[in-house]
Amino acid sequence: MIDGKKVLFSGMQATGSLTLGNYMGALKNWLTLCEEYECFYSVVDLHSITVRQEPAELRKRARNLLTLYIAAGLDPVKNCLYYQSHVSGHCELSWILNCFTYMGELNRMTQFKDKAAKHADNINAGLFTYPVLMAADILLYQADVVPVGKDQLQHLEITRDIAQRFNAIYGDVFTVPEPYIGKTGASIKSLQAPEKKMSKSDENPNASIYLMDDPDTIMRKFKRAVTDSEAQVRYRPEQPGICNLINIYSVCTGKSPEEVEKEFDGRGYGDFKTAVGEAVVSVLKPLQERYADLSRNKDYIDSVIKNNAEKANHYATKTLRKVQKKVGFPERIR
Ligand code: TYM
Repeated sequence: MIDGKKVLFSGMQATGSLTLGNYMGALKNWLTLCEEYECFYSVVDLHSITVRQEPAELRKRARNLLTLYIAAGLDPVKNCLYYQSHVSGHCELSWILNCFTYMGELNRMTQFKDKAAKHADNINAGLFTYPVLMAADILLYQADVVPVGKDQLQHLEITRDIAQRFNAIYGDVFTVPEPYIGKTGASIKSLQAPEKKMSKSDENPNASIYLMDDPDTIMRKFKRAVTDSEAQVRYRPEQPGICNLINIYSVCTGKSPEEVEKEFDGRGYGDFKTAVGEAVVSVLKPLQERYADLSRNKDYIDSVIKNNAEKANHYATKTLRKVQKKVGFPERIR
């Protein structure tokens, strides 16, 4: 609890361009929860170097992502928006938690298996212990709730296991966090292969809608989206492409999948795809405009970076000192 409010933590990597999946699975929910909770939203640059990055590019993308958080509607006075690398407590807690995490647990992580297969030439220890750093992110702020897409659920589970294990030894040190998964946007799929998630790193640019895509590109990508030969807008597992488009339309319009089915009853896929494209454009256009304005305001973004890093450090240090004491590190002499 901070000032009587429950705490929320979440983060995104600044690698690649953000997709509609990132927006619908995470960012959109962040916006609806930010009044109710004391929120920490991190640009998780420490996680990014588990795969090779071009330094100047990573720096640029990290700043762009932080700017995008604000453009999406997160007020940096009410929400703590900061770079993970500016708060050394993440690494310090991560080390301690490494000593309370089993190799067997980490071996089971599907994201590790996927990434190791993709980057076979660089299966580094950081990639393996990635979920422990993620646990440190969350536990450092004593987060009650963590809004994420479905692909991060396994990492939330291990975070809860680590917290419970630590608490069982040392008493109630950590809040055990709950995941928050949205109803319709939790797993946005590729437009070209709807059995796969929409991903920043997809080689086929038509598979993903990027948040900075212009309206024509968005409309074109939806027109090309893979569907099926059923010719009916129905929300059922046999039609994964259509289900995905219904989910996207639902998130944009606030309509339930059943309402979407009714709206498009008897109408063709062409009509439906156009409507989905237009709905997405109407969500992304204002975001892109605010982003362009904010990007020009260097001093403002700099002040957000500075003030919020201080705030995050303040709360992180509180937890870290408590944990250091519990595990038996000597007290600091003032
Ligand atoms: P990242 O950067 O891959 O993704 C950021 C958020 O977007 C969600 N997401 C999706 N949701 C629905 N459909 C999709 N196709 C889709 N693709 C991505 C992700 O679930 C995530 O919520 N390890 C994390 C970042 C992280 C983090 C944390 C998150 C680091 N520490 C602590 C929460 C709490 C990651 O790489 O997310």
